[in-house]
Amino acid sequence: MNYKCVDRGSVRCPCALMEAGQCYTCTMSREGKCDCSIDWQGVCPYNEFLQGGRIPALKGGLPEEFAAEVLSIKKYSGQLAAVRLGVGRGFARRCDIAGSFIMASALGCRVPLSVLKTGWDRDGKYGRGWIEIALQPAGPKTKELLKSCRSREVRDNRKLSGVWKISGPFGAGLLNRERLNRTEPLTVIAKGTAIAPFINMRESFLQGTQIKLLVDDDKLTEDFLVDYLSDCPWEKVSLAEDEQKILAAIDEAAQVMLLASPYYTERILGMRPDRKDDIITANHANMCCGAGICGACSYTDKDGATVRRCRCID
Ligand code: FES
Repeated sequence: MNYKCVDRGSVRCPCALMEAGQCYTCTMSREGKCDCSIDWQGVCPYNEFLQGGRIPALKGGLPEEFAAEVLSIKKYSGQLAAVRLGVGRGFARRCDIAGSFIMASALGCRVPLSVLKTGWDRDGKYGRGWIEIALQPAGPKTKELLKSCRSREVRDNRKLSGVWKISGPFGAGLLNRERLNRTEPLTVIAKGTAIAPFINMRESFLQGTQIKLLVDDDKLTEDFLVDYLSDCPWEKVSLAEDEQKILAAIDEAAQVMLLASPYYTERILGMRPDRKDDIITANHANMCCGAGICGACSYTDKDGATVRRCRCID
């Protein structure tokens, strides 16, 4: 199996997997023998690891957590809110990449959340940036995040804004992301807030790409769709009821992005197994630490190798 890592050569490389002798892309770390081609011209993660004193690029292997101020919150319904967080300009720019997500801390746990939109001050060098997250308060952690959007303190007659503790950005939010080709027509099938990665890349990476968009607006409200998709024509579908229409849309498109819950993703891919390796899907996969450490996203592939899907693409 030929493994690729979403972070190879980035500021997050080498990671904790290299330290543990388990880097998927480096046989030197796993077997003490390099099998990179002599044509390889990129950075050597193993060399970076040795020269860095045999420690991961990020302290403890995880991106550092920081406090992000809640700049605004727009509630679309009791089930959906868009939260805008103030972040550094560099952070916002790094979130403007296909499949970016952040981790937010709540109740001592971490919640992976796809980036819905990013923006930054385009004048000057050191301006601030922001990111938006579509939040569905469905369980204790997301309800706690919604609560921490509120101002809780008044100091010097000034209301202090809510704050989230976040880290990231992480880059493995989409499977088969490397197949995305902006010059080819793209059919996007999305259900609910799983549409976030598409909205995030629509105005940047996918600008100019010919897009056919089918949306199951379950849990999305009309004003949310106006706010985020008003200039992008879309057709309403139901993933539960329009199966044949969705399969026909997949069959006639060379490039497809399917953004839905694991249930619908598996159901649709199960009916088109030959497209499993080319359809771009959301990488839910029990994401927990996002850094290859906790093992929550592990799966054993057909070669018997246990890989972490938050890092590894095969
Ligand atoms: S989410 Fe923790 S190892 Fe992948």
